[in-house]
Amino acid sequence: MDLSRAAAAALDAADPLAGFRARFVGVDDGLLYLDGNSLGRLPTDTPAAVARVVEQEWGRGLIGSWGDWVERSRRIGDGLAAGVLGARPGEVLVSDTTSVDLYKLLVAGTDARPGRDVLVCCADDFPTDRYVVAGVAAARGMTVREVDAHIDTGLDLAALTEALDERVAVVVLSQVAYRSGALVDIAAVTRLARDAGALVVWDLSHGAGAVRADLTAAGADLAVGCTYKYLNGGPGAPAFLYVRRELQEQLRQPIWGWFGQRDQFAMGTAYDPADGVDRFAVGTPPVLAMAAVEVGARLTAEAGIDRLVAKGRALTELVIALADDRLAAHGVTVASPREADRRGSHVSLAHPRAWQLTQALIDRGVVPDFRTPDRLRLGPAPLYTRFVDVWDAMDRLRRVLDEGAHAEYPTERSRIT
Ligand SMILES: Cc1ncc(COP(=O)(O)O)c(C=O)c1O
Repeated sequence: MDLSRAAAAALDAADPLAGFRARFVGVDDGLLYLDGNSLGRLPTDTPAAVARVVEQEWGRGLIGSWGDWVERSRRIGDGLAAGVLGARPGEVLVSDTTSVDLYKLLVAGTDARPGRDVLVCCADDFPTDRYVVAGVAAARGMTVREVDAHIDTGLDLAALTEALDERVAVVVLSQVAYRSGALVDIAAVTRLARDAGALVVWDLSHGAGAVRADLTAAGADLAVGCTYKYLNGGPGAPAFLYVRRELQEQLRQPIWGWFGQRDQFAMGTAYDPADGVDRFAVGTPPVLAMAAVEVGARLTAEAGIDRLVAKGRALTELVIALADDRLAAHGVTVASPREADRRGSHVSLAHPRAWQLTQALIDRGVVPDFRTPDRLRLGPAPLYTRFVDVWDAMDRLRRVLDEGAHAEYPTERSRIT
């Protein structure tokens, strides 16, 4: 691999997604933003889309716009289903937060497996996933089995197989590990769980918009995910949930709100869940925030998941090659799977001074993030990150290490990274 900056520029010149960069705000400000897997950039169309909802639908339409708003969770969900998740119409809903949606689907799945008293999750999964599992287990007197995962290479499938038996109701897993980027095969794990009679709730947060989910083809039953990462829906954007069509009528979620009710405005005395995916709704959707999600979802669908995956692989391959070539002598090691088909669209680098390196990079115009215990995480979102951005960021990191500039930063970690 040619590791010169000119070679990176040549990759940009040949990039079929290069035109999408101009559809994001701030890309020419000189900041090397490699944290699109935490919070995606602002699409240029979003301010007008949000303003339209504020000024026209709210400002002029007032309650007359309501009819359109109640449909919107499903309309945007259908767009995500077709353009991003490989699901069918009527299987995806935009609602609530990822944590709340996870709770809803986990309880619904648990209730659908009566007599089973074990929930399975991954010991290294994102905290909210583990906490929600622990909370549901505590409330119901169930046992949690935490399956070991390697911090760099991800879930151990043999350990997962061992954890699955006739006591397991639901398994909660992330498709892409939040720290290392290690990718789990949704189809393979769904088969394993189904053989044991269990359901899986997938957390697609770190994959949606950068990794193929192919939920229908994989036979997935349940999934949730963030829209503010690779889908660029903005801070606090509502999450999505997915329930396989054939399962919907069998499941009841635990928050019996009026948006999940059949014939909502009949204001019936008793809760009677709506047909289809609507029964997984709870209350009034965040209409203003959903306008931003719709723009982000459409942009992603327009770019095409295949092209995004291909570019994400190429960008992360460049990170790995540059780290091996330029940073290994400084004690930096690659803390993510090296095989492209076992990796999402971000890469972690391990270094004992990763916290200080993160701060030094931020002061030099590069935005990565830090993950415990000693990981520098780089998420070059394929929609708007150039190969030269990756090259320049890695060059600044090399210079920090060459000069020892990170030693000037406090070793104590502050709260927000
Ligand atoms: C894998 C994963 N799941 C869930 C969440 C939390 O989502 P929310 O805060 O929207 O509930 C995050 C947030 O970063 C995440 O990375």
